[in-house]
Amino acid sequence: MIICVCHRVSDRDINRAVQAGCDSFAELQQHTRVGTACGRCIEHAQDSFAELGGGGGCGHCAGAGRCGASPAQLSA
Ligand code: FES
Repeated sequence: MIICVCHRVSDRDINRAVQAGCDSFAELQQHTRVGTACGRCIEHAQDSFAELGGGGGCGHCAGAGRCGASPAQLSA
């Protein structure tokens, strides 16, 4: 399913990036450009990223970066 219409990024693309070791939403955006145009897909993309295991585990947003916690805060 296409998540980001602007850059034609699918849930498969996000899963592929997670499997390749992408460990933050910012890194996912660098690799796929998801959410970097109109931004309407950001929330859905963050949810997909977290559901697919991206970013490790933050108690607030499952590592999707929405809570604004830094990597140091997440590992503390
Ligand atoms: S739909 Fe993803 S940036 Fe526009």
